[in-house]
Amino acid sequence: MSNEQGEKRIITILLVDDIPETRENIKKLLAFEPDFKVIGAAANGREGVEMAKELRPDIIIMDINMPDMDGLQAANQITKAVPTAGVIMMSVQTDTDYIRKAMLAGARNFLAKPVNMDELYETVRNVYDQYEPIRHQMSQMSEMILEDRKKVRGEGERAGHIIVVYSPQGGAGCTTIATNLASGLMKEGIKVLLVDADLQFGDVGVFLNMHGQATLLELAESVEDLDTELFENIVMVHDSGLKVLLAPPRPEQADIIIRDNPDAVASILEKVRSNYDFIVVDTSSHLDETLASLLDIATRIVLITPPTLPGIKNARLMLDLFDQLGYPPEKACLVVNRAVDDRQRRQGGISAEKIQSYLKRPVREKIPLVEERIILNAVNKGVPVIAAERDTNKPPSKQYIALADALMAELMGDLEEEAEEKSEKSKPGLRLFGR
Ligand SMILES: Nc1ncnc2c1ncn2[C@@H]1O[C@H](COP(=O)(O)OP(=O)(O)OP(=O)(O)O)[C@@H](O)[C@H]1O
Ligand SMILES: [Mg+2]
Repeated sequence: MSNEQGEKRIITILLVDDIPETRENIKKLLAFEPDFKVIGAAANGREGVEMAKELRPDIIIMDINMPDMDGLQAANQITKAVPTAGVIMMSVQTDTDYIRKAMLAGARNFLAKPVNMDELYETVRNVYDQYEPIRHQMSQMSEMILEDRKKVRGEGERAGHIIVVYSPQGGAGCTTIATNLASGLMKEGIKVLLVDADLQFGDVGVFLNMHGQATLLELAESVEDLDTELFENIVMVHDSGLKVLLAPPRPEQADIIIRDNPDAVASILEKVRSNYDFIVVDTSSHLDETLASLLDIATRIVLITPPTLPGIKNARLMLDLFDQLGYPPEKACLVVNRAVDDRQRRQGGISAEKIQSYLKRPVREKIPLVEERIILNAVNKGVPVIAAERDTNKPPSKQYIALADALMAELMGDLEEEAEEKSEKSKPGLRLFGR
């Protein structure tokens, strides 16, 4: 995928317009430029989304007004499914309200119809350049996944997915969700580590009734000497079999890490990640260097928001920050905690659907507001809620398990698929049992 140095990169383009004539005209204009290549043309939004997923073009030039699915809806779906594709919207209407709508749907630029040749060339190149960091990150990510897969297959090493559970809002439910997510991910053959990176006031020890000798404090002091074997010998094991790394017992001890080596937790996790399929990290709401380094190395960030205005506003700020950091959109996995039903909504809570449309991200799971007693009961037993409740088909266990299953399918499923794809590609003549 990555091009050799010096090789001229061809910008691949998909056209989406319901008028065949327009498609032809733009195609002709683009053909004059040797670094442009039109790799497909679709006649409506639905077809556009399908082709974008299949062809993964660098640029999509799309009309707004189309039958079936319009350009705005299509752009919305494409920017989620193909984060490396830059969408340029076209319309005869050019009032600001129209342009604003296009931008909100995820378009990166806007062209007035009929399209001016120079403007077209410049816009395509500009948008292509804007996407350079995203393409870079994605290619690194897929290389990382392939690397991980090699390790899993080749040397008995593990996938090493790091899932950081974070909320900018204190008390949003991170610790509850992190412990249950880690527990839900524990399936046969899957190795899971739960890490309490809420260094000052970590509660995982309280939730799981564990007190450790070797906490992050001791490990942070000797990051350089740490190896996977040493780590395995000192990491604590919960009764359920879950491996757990606790925060330092006292807040002032956390200060030592935060002050002297803010990246220590991330360094430790980098060293041991190949020993685990999943490392679930509980965090505090405090946005500091330790957190930033964890967000950077995360495979997924489970972003928790309560269904309240300040909560959603803070989630928006975090998502914007992730964009600025160049994280691909799918890195953040949005979860609403204490989600409200219709009755409660009348008293002021905001529905997951509204949150989703405001944040322009899918809400991956809505964990309902439950009686505090359910969570306290688990804490008293020192086990995750999903282990304490008899009926795991009820909220909130049902939602914790659904979230764990979704992440498992997404992250471990990917590896399987890529492995299949790759072996099929490398052996074109051997697809005897191909579907
Ligand atoms: N879905 C829910 N319904 C009702 N109560 C909940 C739910 N999720 C969490 N809680 C309660 O909210 C409180 C805070 O939860 P938790 O400690 O997991 O949040 P946190 O984000 O880790 O907080 P902190 O910022 O203190 O680390 C707990 O008392 C917990 O029992
Ligand atoms: Mg907590």
